Parts: sequence; C-alpha cells; structure tokens
Amino acid sequence: AENRRESLMIVSGFAAKFFHESLLETDEGRNIGLSYFKERGFTTEIINKFELGYSPDQWEAFSSQAVKEGYQPEFLIESGLSVKRENGSLYDRYRGRVIFPIHSFTGRVIAFGGRTLKTDKNVPKYVNSPESEIYHKSNVLYGLYHAKKSIREEDNCYLVEGYADVISVHQAGIENVVASSGTSLTVEQIRLISRLTKNITILYDGDAAGIKASLRGLDMILEEGLNVKVVLFPDGHDPDSYVRLVGTSAFKKHIEESKKDFILYKTNLLLKEAGNDPIRKAEVIRDIVESIAKIPDSIKASVFVKECSHILQIDERALLSELNKMRQAKA
Ligand code: GTP
Ligand code: MN
Ligand code: MN
Ligand code: MN
Ligand code: MN
Repeated sequence: AENRRESLMIVSGFAAKFFHESLLETDEGRNIGLSYFKERGFTTEIINKFELGYSPDQWEAFSSQAVKEGYQPEFLIESGLSVKRENGSLYDRYRGRVIFPIHSFTGRVIAFGGRTLKTDKNVPKYVNSPESEIYHKSNVLYGLYHAKKSIREEDNCYLVEGYADVISVHQAGIENVVASSGTSLTVEQIRLISRLTKNITILYDGDAAGIKASLRGLDMILEEGLNVKVVLFPDGHDPDSYVRLVGTSAFKKHIEESKKDFILYKTNLLLKEAGNDPIRKAEVIRDIVESIAKIPDSIKASVFVKECSHILQIDERALLSELNKMRQAKA
C-alpha cells in the first residue's frame, strides 16, 4: 500500500510539473493560462511558489506524455489525472483549464483543482481530483503547506473558501491562509489547524451561502477548543476580489477593524433575524447556549455567557443555568 501511495505521489508530481511547464513554456499556455493569471493579478513569483499550471486544450496531451515516459495507466487513472475510455485508451481529465496543485502537509502534490476559462454556465467552474489513496479531501486544506510556518508565527489561521483567495491573500503578504475548497469544514481539517494555532479567523465570501457555511462550522471549531473570529466582506466580494479592489494595506486594515468574535457575531445575527417574536428569541437563546456549551474551557464559556446575556438582554444567571443543564445532559 505504501508503494501504491508513493507511485500516486510520483505521478502527481510529474503532472504538476507538466502543467506548470505547459503554463510557462508553451504558446498556448502563455497566451491563455498565463495571461488569465496575470489578469487576475497573480505575479510570476506566486505562480511559481504554488506551482500553478495549465492543461492544454486537447484530449490526450497529458496522458500520452505520461504513458510515453513510463507512468503506469493504473496510477494515472487512480489519481484521476486520466480517465479510461471503453476501448481502454486514456484521455485527460483536465483540458483547457488553469491548474491549482494541492499539496500535502509535507509539500508533496496529492491532487489538483482545475478552473475553466469559459464563462459558459453549463461547464463546471472547477474540476477537482477524485478521492484516492493519497487524497482524502476532508483531511486536506489547500495552502496549508505554504501557510504552516506563518500560522505558527502569527498564532492565527485565516480560513477562506477558494483557491484564488488563498493565492491572492498570500500574495498580499498574509501567508497564514488556507481554504477548505468547496467542502464544508471538517473536524479533521480543524485538527490540522489546531496543531499549529488555537485561533481561526474566517474570511468567507460576502454572500448568504458563505455566511451560512461559516455558521455551520462554528460549533465544531468551538468543540475543538479553538477561538473563532469572523471578517465580513461587502456583498458579492470574496477575499480575492476585495484585496484586488482595495489593495494590500486597506485589506489588512479592513481585517483588523471589522473582525468580530464569532459567537458574538452569531448572537447578533440570529437575534436580528428573530425580531420581536418571543418564541423565536427563545430558540436563538438555546442555539447560542448550545454553541457556548461546546467550549471546553469553562472560564472562557462563562465570559461568553456574560457577553451574550447583554446582547440577548436576558439575565446572566438564566443563561448560566441553561448552560449547566446542557453540560449535564452531555456528560
Ligand atoms: P474564482 O471564480 O476563480 O474566483 O473562484 P472562487 O474560489 O471564488 O469560487 P467560489 O467562491 O464559487 O467557490 C469556492 C470554492 O468552491 C472554489 O475555490 C472551489 O474549490 C469550489 N468550487 C467552486 N465551484 C465549483 C465547481 O463547479 N465544482 C467543484 N467541485 N468545486 C467548486
Ligand atoms: Mn476520505
Ligand atoms: Mn461563493
Ligand atoms: Mn473568487
Ligand atoms: Mn469565491
């Protein structure tokens, strides 16, 4: 099994090199892929650092080169780089896309995300590697290999939604940034971060889906004993588009000035949604207490009880007794 994993990583490394060279050293790659990245504001330095690439717009450019160089079809297929036709021949999964290689914690390439350059709504925007022996997407954070040193140093991890957000924010000099890449955050991903820092700052897209996605992940993050802050962006913006719009220093300033503790943010948000309806307000209170009950540190939990009782305008002792009830039910 170790041999199979090593073979998959070797073929993935070969593919990353193939796509990267296609981007930088072929006319098609330069005219289409590289100019796309340049239009997005990505520098050559960041393109090299993250080994960004381009897959030629042909059916077999990669697969035939790989077979010619002796890579076994078995591993080309298992890695998802090639797809098998009924007649047994191989064609490329990624065609005419810009490529974001996904690295393991130790920097090996284990998977890919490929973005279309078309605006056609019927074409999926991103094609990603399937699960394989080396790629379990629930255990991987995009950008972690390039972020880990800075996460430790800054004692904080920025969490974004997409590949492009990681690249742009990293390029802006904020290197402690990772993405969950399309999946909602998993407990395995939180534990990866937790080994490096206990502080997460969520920078999700400024749309309803982004905010809902972050609410869902909250209790899980709290349960792992991490502190969570959130930064919102103007509607329609994500970290990538926003940093390009306002520039690095205004972006950093926005983060510093608008980051909020996530429990307090959630409390305010739900309260606003509930309006004056007492039943709904009671539900909000229970929901918030449930989140606070997930915090393993009881001193920290009691600080949140105090703060949230102010926001919810309910007696602190009532919240506390609800919290204790919930804790006992759990134990
Ligand atoms: P850009 O348009 O390139 O800026 O991408 P984005 O990262 O802003 O995309 P979006 O906010 O729509 O989605 C966030 C992340 O979800 C992406 O980076 C992908 O990892 C994932 N994703 C988006 N669209 C698709 C898709 O069509 N298929 C799959 N499998 N994943 C997707
Ligand atoms: Mn898995
Ligand atoms: Mn989005
Ligand atoms: Mn984007
Ligand atoms: Mn986005």
